[in-house]
Amino acid sequence: MPDTDLQHLPVMPGNRHRGIGICGAGSIVNAAHLPAYRKAGFRISAIFDLDGEKAARTAAAFEIPRVCATLEELIADREVDIVDIAVPAAQNLRLVEAVAGAGKDMLIQKPLAEDLETARRTVELIERAGVAAAVNHQMRWEPGVRATRTLIERGDLGEIFNIAFLVFVDTPWHMWEWLKRKATIDVLYHSIHYLDAIRFLCDEEPEWLFCGGATRPHYDAEGETRLCLHLGFSGELRATILTN
Ligand SMILES: NC(=O)c1ccc[n+]([C@@H]2O[C@H](COP(=O)([O-])OP(=O)(O)OC[C@H]3O[C@@H](n4cnc5c(N)ncnc54)[C@H](O)[C@@H]3O)[C@@H](O)[C@H]2O)c1
Repeated sequence: MPDTDLQHLPVMPGNRHRGIGICGAGSIVNAAHLPAYRKAGFRISAIFDLDGEKAARTAAAFEIPRVCATLEELIADREVDIVDIAVPAAQNLRLVEAVAGAGKDMLIQKPLAEDLETARRTVELIERAGVAAAVNHQMRWEPGVRATRTLIERGDLGEIFNIAFLVFVDTPWHMWEWLKRKATIDVLYHSIHYLDAIRFLCDEEPEWLFCGGATRPHYDAEGETRLCLHLGFSGELRATILTN
């Protein structure tokens, strides 16, 4: 009898009552986090955004009981066990420091940081505080990606020597005005999902890579919005990301 369980679904936590405090009431929180939490039956206790009106609108739309006026208020709320940080990444270090200092667990939107040094400092803060933290790399939780990993692990696909993500989409970059002045755009804010999915599928880190980027013609941005990335792993395993 063939094993048909592809283990494509995540194992949900037994306790869905821990309170979540949302930091950031932007497009991803409204379009993805809160609808997903509602579907999963998670409990949202409070929300904070620098723009109080946005926080209030989101709270009304998702029946969040408390809108906090400051980050400190959100973190101090006894009903908040986990803080969900979903703001532009340049803010993450400061927010993580505050949440970790209060001994609370957290989910941090990708990218964790915009440079390696800051990413390392962020991880050190979390480890020193002994709290649980995850970066929101949701692609590794997608059923297709999880099922593929199961097939790879079982050897059903034979020897894997190439993984490719070829993405031809019209990304609405204009939605994120703050992204335009970043030195790197696609690799940190888009292709990072494919990078993480590849690491998850291979279960190893690349040994080398080369990368070339370009911007969409006539697009007013400093960093790249199109990318070609090639990763080399041990032996003959390679991975390619092409976004356009
Ligand atoms: N995982 C994904 O697929 C995915 C998709 C889109 C965005 N994101 C990430 O989510 C984050 C937010 O993106 P978005 O699309 O919601 O952006 P957005 O511009 O729509 O919203 C950002 C919100 O954060 C608020 N904010 C900024 N600094 C803050 C601070 N210090 N404290 C509290 N609030 C603050 C802003 O007022 C704004 O409401 C980014 O890091 C982005 O990379 C991830």
